[in-house]
Amino acid sequence: MLKKLVFLGMGGTIAGMSDNATDNVDYVAAQVGVTQLLGAIPSLKAALGDHQALSEQVAQVDSKDMGHSQWRALALRAVHYLSMADVDAVVITHGTDTLEETAFFLSKVLPVELLVAKAVVLTCAMRPASSMAPDGPQNMLDAVAVARSSDARGVLVVCAGTVHSARDVQKVHPYRVNAFDSGEAGPLGFVEEGVVRWVHRCENFWVGISAIPMNKLSVESWPWVEVVLSHAGVTGAVVRALCDGSRVGTQLLGGIVVAGTGNGTVHEDLVLALRDAQKMGIRVVRSTRCTQGSIVSGAGGGEFAHSNGLSPVKARIALMLDLMR
Ligand code: SIN
Repeated sequence: MLKKLVFLGMGGTIAGMSDNATDNVDYVAAQVGVTQLLGAIPSLKAALGDHQALSEQVAQVDSKDMGHSQWRALALRAVHYLSMADVDAVVITHGTDTLEETAFFLSKVLPVELLVAKAVVLTCAMRPASSMAPDGPQNMLDAVAVARSSDARGVLVVCAGTVHSARDVQKVHPYRVNAFDSGEAGPLGFVEEGVVRWVHRCENFWVGISAIPMNKLSVESWPWVEVVLSHAGVTGAVVRALCDGSRVGTQLLGGIVVAGTGNGTVHEDLVLALRDAQKMGIRVVRSTRCTQGSIVSGAGGGEFAHSNGLSPVKARIALMLDLMR
């Protein structure tokens, strides 16, 4: 049976175009279709080896504008393809700006029985396809190498020759091509001349994850969870405004993630407002503005749950999915 790799296009800079080949900033993201991107990589056939490529455009967005409807569509198409016996892996081309959110979301909703057997590899670019030195084609080739690796499992991110897990990866730089980092956890591996050198195994990343049934994603509106920031001079005004307007249409505010200072600490004025929100039944979760490490529980930290090491944007997804359950 001929094995397949499926490429799902979501847009991003990897599909971006500018009139000027030397311009890596003023371009329009999400212009080129995934099939066209694949066709522009001369050595793709060799990289695919005995795999056949299939491609589908699921969305075409600048990922800063990513929404829940695109996530729903992506999850459904990923499950569709991963369920096929002759599909070994799915590669997703995506913008860098919210890539870590999409990767984390997929890692939480795709059925565990698929993730234990196959890989979903997200890749991207920091320079548009029109650049005189684009990084997208190499990232695509590296993603193919990872997707074909027999050790690849679960949801992975490949950028600048580095393989990251969905849980730990974070965009840390607005411009350089090596824009992602896995913090203290470190990367899972590296792609060197088409060969993947794993430094950690993928095996355990889905343990303890209970994926939510896919039919739960079909509801029109997903739970409403906001992120607020604790900072010098903050008041409780934003949280109070959210609580005052906590019903938008038919939807109620379900949760607030507070990006706290240091060890998830929160300004006392913000605490007062969050306490009131919690009394209204709104779930409150503390995360940290720090990009490394995880909140360490201690005496007195129990008033608001903490995010178990998730960044604020990933804690928002985890809380939203929890409310969906
Ligand atoms: C985007 O996230 O879609 C635009 C920026 C990028 O891909 O680098």
